[in-house]
Amino acid sequence: MPAKKPQPKKSKTSKRAVTLDAGAFDRRLARHHDELRWLYMELYDNGDMFAELIDQMRCFYRERPADLRALDASREIHGTWYREQKMLGMQMYIDNFAGTIKGVEEKIGYLERCGATCIHLMPFLDTPADKSRSDGGYAVSDFRRVRPDLGTMDDLAHLARTCHERGISLCMDFVMNHTSEEHEWARRARSGEGEYMSRYFFEANPAVIEQYTRDVPQVFPTTAPGHFTYLPELGQSVMTQFYPYQWDLNYRNPRVFNEMMYNFLYLANQGMDIIRLDAVPYIWKQLGTNCRNLPQVHTIVRMMRMIGEVVCPGIALLGEVVMAPAEVAPYFGIPEKPECHMLYNVTTMATTWHTVATRDTRLLRRQLEAISSLPSSYTFLNYLRCHDDIGWGLDYPLLAAWGQREVAHKRYLNEYFLGDVPGSMSRGALYNADPVTGDARFCGTTASMCGIEVAGFEGDAMKMDVAVQLDVMLHAYMLTQSGMPIIYSGDELAQVNDYSYRDDPEKAEDSRYIHRGAFPWDLVDNIDVEGSVQQRVFDALRLLERVRCIEPLFSPDARLRPKDYSDRAILWLVRECGGETLHAVFNFSDMPKTVWMPEAGEYVDLLAGEREDIATVELPAWGFFWKKRGW
Ligand code: GLC
Repeated sequence: MPAKKPQPKKSKTSKRAVTLDAGAFDRRLARHHDELRWLYMELYDNGDMFAELIDQMRCFYRERPADLRALDASREIHGTWYREQKMLGMQMYIDNFAGTIKGVEEKIGYLERCGATCIHLMPFLDTPADKSRSDGGYAVSDFRRVRPDLGTMDDLAHLARTCHERGISLCMDFVMNHTSEEHEWARRARSGEGEYMSRYFFEANPAVIEQYTRDVPQVFPTTAPGHFTYLPELGQSVMTQFYPYQWDLNYRNPRVFNEMMYNFLYLANQGMDIIRLDAVPYIWKQLGTNCRNLPQVHTIVRMMRMIGEVVCPGIALLGEVVMAPAEVAPYFGIPEKPECHMLYNVTTMATTWHTVATRDTRLLRRQLEAISSLPSSYTFLNYLRCHDDIGWGLDYPLLAAWGQREVAHKRYLNEYFLGDVPGSMSRGALYNADPVTGDARFCGTTASMCGIEVAGFEGDAMKMDVAVQLDVMLHAYMLTQSGMPIIYSGDELAQVNDYSYRDDPEKAEDSRYIHRGAFPWDLVDNIDVEGSVQQRVFDALRLLERVRCIEPLFSPDARLRPKDYSDRAILWLVRECGGETLHAVFNFSDMPKTVWMPEAGEYVDLLAGEREDIATVELPAWGFFWKKRGW
């Protein structure tokens, strides 16, 4: 009898197949290797460093936890998970919301009640303890360590697992333009170690510094003027485009690129789903240019996209590109060579507030037309406000044609939102008012900018009705747009401005803290109090979100376009899908309006859930509707 053939060690092999599909890495690498190598060599011409990068990618793939690799595999099959209809983002500071990462985990029930399916945890990596030198966490001292008062990396990975079990994804900031002056590289550079000095931009020549000052616009003209910070111990200056304690990294040095990619993969392996590329347009510097959006930035983002697709294809890159409209879309790359998966819809956000202040929707219609003419695969993150200021980055050439001049118009917008213009109930604070250009940006919570703070302070019920209506209408309009909506935690409870930052010497200089107040847990109970502001806003938002989540007209494949309407105060958006049409109409004025439907007949009001025969609709001040036709 022939000897019995040795049986393959079944269990071991199959277990290995489940936990580590080594072939997947090679397959993905084979897809991207040539382009990745080409771009890397073009930028760095360094084969050894490229080989090291590939080796490290393989290591990060091997270390990637099995549950995340399984998620990668399913997301590879299902494609664009981040633009699914159910996506609803919520952004929050961990300490403001729940003290610690563990605290956030304990509060997941509340986040589910809000309908959140994606949570953006604001910067939580180690940062200088002195808050006046941490830029709200955007000055990172260690990319592999969580700020000790918030918890540990294990807490983060645990939170990510719990979130995934509940169908919630996590987003974090990857602050790639700079490190804190307390980062190990910066400390060693400061002590004169050449290897580390080469990771930043040191300059001793005043003529070069002067040229940068001439050519490169200021990021924080008032709170942090200048582009370099002098270090007396070295007799040289270091480039600091943002704050003096945030040292710009030198991506001309392949060591910087490689190490930052390892940090990115390390963080992805903790279970992050979306990596927000902070201030990405700034990462490449070239004397003689404005140091923004240079071609090398796109090369780096493209490489990062490929590195992610090889090691952890389930993650999505969200570009923070707060730039003029023409500069934003290129960060999506081209269909065969994509860069970011998602970008902030920043111009639309600023134009929305312009529309509130002017009651004139023409600019917003143009902006939404521009967005809807882009390929539908481009996914935008829509928001009314975030943790940063609102910069008035509008289409000024177009406004000029309508007789509005840039500086005067910005002044008007700021006065409007400060509440200094008749008809405005807004409250907030200026940010980086530049005495030279007359420019200033604006800070405030959505509720305060809508008048809820003023109405509450004055105890004026009629004013409150108007303010709540405006707040809800703006959310409805935001939810009508295509892409992922994101709400700033607290806005669902109409949280108003927090002025206490002015008494805190570590924050007083930075008015963005006005809209970064501690989460008002005491107001959560009011959601159950019929007629309270919290109940009215929370329930209205939940209804809108629920409808958006299930109604096919909000599917990512539906086409959105603005429709002309004779009244400039009316914004008319149309979503079309499967022979049905959604008419989403918004009254951007404090006067009631009668709106004529395109054809008299039967419509379904999506919020009331009722069929109705109509030819006209009466809209109150700041009113809106979602009505569907054709079924
Ligand atoms: C981004 C952040 C902002 C921060 C800056 C510098 O713009 O959103 O809060 O100040 O980057 O890192």
